[in-house]
Amino acid sequence: MAAEHRIAVIGGDGTGPEVVAEGLKVLQAAARVGGFACETEAFDFSGQRYLSRGGSPTEPTIPVITDEEIEQLKTFDAIYLGAVGDPDVAPGILEKGLLLRLRFALDQYINLRPVKLYPGVPCPLAGKGPEDVDFVIVRENTEGLYTGMGGRQYPDTPHEVATQIMCNTRHGVERCLRYAFETCRRRDDKKMLTLVHKTNVLTNCGDLWFRAFNRIGEADYPDVRRDYNHVDACCMWMVKNPEYYDTIVTGNMFGDIITDLGAMIQGGMGIAAGGNINPDGLSMFEPIGGSAPKYTGQNKINPLAAIAAMQMMLAELGEEKAADAVEKAIAYVTGDRLEGMAAGRMGYTTREVGDLVAEAVAG
Ligand code: IPM
Ligand code: MN
Repeated sequence: MAAEHRIAVIGGDGTGPEVVAEGLKVLQAAARVGGFACETEAFDFSGQRYLSRGGSPTEPTIPVITDEEIEQLKTFDAIYLGAVGDPDVAPGILEKGLLLRLRFALDQYINLRPVKLYPGVPCPLAGKGPEDVDFVIVRENTEGLYTGMGGRQYPDTPHEVATQIMCNTRHGVERCLRYAFETCRRRDDKKMLTLVHKTNVLTNCGDLWFRAFNRIGEADYPDVRRDYNHVDACCMWMVKNPEYYDTIVTGNMFGDIITDLGAMIQGGMGIAAGGNINPDGLSMFEPIGGSAPKYTGQNKINPLAAIAAMQMMLAELGEEKAADAVEKAIAYVTGDRLEGMAAGRMGYTTREVGDLVAEAVAG
């Protein structure tokens, strides 16, 4: 019998549900190509639900997602997420209450973000094309500055103190590095893994990353060339010589920042996708861009990032044939059909772009 995948779908806020609908359209077409069955179930873990249940718009007073709901999600094979962020809810409540909560609770310790310029997509870098912008960033996703460690003292006094601790464990760093070496080894590129950090200033965390990187690489990945960039220099090279990179591995906060830069050089938030991956557990795939409140409900937002996230999900589920078909369909649509990537400038509506990709997948 053909494989059956059960997907939990969290449309989320703003334009999230619209782009997710197009990704699911493409999933149906891809399932026919790949010869597998797919069952989806929608969950409304949104800012509006939080408010309707009595959550305060200014402080996190109730859970955005409950422990029981997380247990329920664990019965699925993958999670497909639209967007998180609602203008009616103060920044941080939904991001921490849903997105970070799921990343941590499901131990999705990898944030995999390909930086790939598809054909026909306008690139802001002069003279660079699809052959120049094609690398992948492996961002550590459960440690670093994101653990919430630290605290505050004497608030609203001249002596106020605030700390936010960059916390890394050998275990956390090593498992991320191993994943990155494996990713690099599998890619059809120059087999070069670049560690990005700030070892000249962050001499505790940076040194841990650097030593673990060299130790693991030397022992288990002699075929992968090891390379190191400070994060500031990496920003410079990503703009000046993006073709230099193959695979980058970095900590959580640096990864957050350089993947937004990566999204821009691959044509913007309309096309950038990522996966929150637990290689031995439940992973979650999402477009990198936000909830775009001003475009909500207008059928104008670009669904390609969500469709690219679906492609990553298929690859992670082991549906290579379907994933390849989706990737080719995206390239066909960007190369031959779309006028632009920005919302309202595609020459097609959100739903029409979804139709174009789904048709291209079907062949
Ligand atoms: C991202 C986002 C999140 C992050 C926010 C919304 C918490 O910027 O997925 O990159 O910082 O990881
Ligand atoms: Mn980010």
